[in-house]
Amino acid sequence: MTARIARALQAVTAERAGDAVLSVRGLTVRFRLPGGRTVAAVGDADFDLAAGECLALVGESGCGKSVLASALLGLLPGNAETSGTAFLDGTDLLAADEKTLARTVRGRRVGLVPQSPAAHLTPVRTVRSHLEETVRALTGTSRRARRKTAEDAADRAAFPAGHLDRYPHELSGGLAQRAATALALIGDARLLLADEPTTGLDRDLVDRTVDELRRHADEGRALLLITHDLAAAARIADRVAVMYAGRIVEVAPAHRFFGPTGPRHPYARGLLDALPDRAFTPVPGMPPELSALPDGCAFAPRCPRATARCATRPEPTAGVACHHPEQPRA
Ligand SMILES: Nc1ncnc2c1ncn2[C@@H]1O[C@H](COP(=O)(O)OP(=O)(O)OP(=O)(O)O)[C@@H](O)[C@H]1O
Ligand code: SF4
Ligand SMILES: [Mg+2]
Repeated sequence: MTARIARALQAVTAERAGDAVLSVRGLTVRFRLPGGRTVAAVGDADFDLAAGECLALVGESGCGKSVLASALLGLLPGNAETSGTAFLDGTDLLAADEKTLARTVRGRRVGLVPQSPAAHLTPVRTVRSHLEETVRALTGTSRRARRKTAEDAADRAAFPAGHLDRYPHELSGGLAQRAATALALIGDARLLLADEPTTGLDRDLVDRTVDELRRHADEGRALLLITHDLAAAARIADRVAVMYAGRIVEVAPAHRFFGPTGPRHPYARGLLDALPDRAFTPVPGMPPELSALPDGCAFAPRCPRATARCATRPEPTAGVACHHPEQPRA
């Protein structure tokens, strides 16, 4: 039995045992480019998400976070090749056909706060109409009940009631963001994928939005929070997954990641040290091209701990994919 099949079986077992709402094993996404080149956007991602849990997925721009979320919803373009498994309540999201995804997964079992909310809103419909139509499609309740559910969702997402009759082009980026969050909250989906849900919001609204997402998870659902905002992740996440060049290089409990012990992968530590309220020292260099990844550790050219051993790819051990992980901070 190959390692990949063994991991897929583990995922099914975890999901059937009720430990995981979502169980992802070996998720890999490649984009075919003209001329035969490929972009390795996500490589061999493994993670579980339990009911009531928030996992924050962090990493530099372009490392594959949104592609991973899109793969789970079957929203990748035609030039994508996906492999691996992602079990949600008995359904392998990566193997499901478009009809199953459209009728039973998107918006129903998996909610999405998209990274570019304005692009997901229909220009000729008001925010109220978007919300009420979503309530109608998901619950089929009476007109009066629809109105109330739509207004409640707007309130939960801090979308002002006085702006509900505005059209998408009349919304600021922050308002469009809150409209998208309200739409995603409506279905009470078992799994919520929130891709940069706080872009364009000031600190108070960031806190309010992520607290609402946290409440959503606390009611027994699972939340994957994709974010550049490490303060938001520190506020609500139970665990943190760090992605670099398409691979999850560390998964750690949030209290350890943000606490005195710190993360163990050199890149994860660099991300934290780049924060203004920490060392304020950026990670040197640039991430690699995903169309020309090295055979070994992709972080090696930027890593202060790299040795000859790093020319081979490190497999994750105790949640860290590194040959020379950092020691816990004193
Ligand atoms: N259709 C496509 N064809 C080829 N490459 C693509 C395609 N879509 C995405 N990519 C590439 O996949 C990589 C991962 O993109 P992704 O949008 O997931 O990054 P991200 O981590 O979400 O970044 P950000 O933090 O900026 O949102 C990028 O290098 C991107 O250029
Ligand atoms: S495997 Fe090597 S190069 Fe990669 S992060 Fe660890 S020490 Fe650095
Ligand atoms: Mg993204």
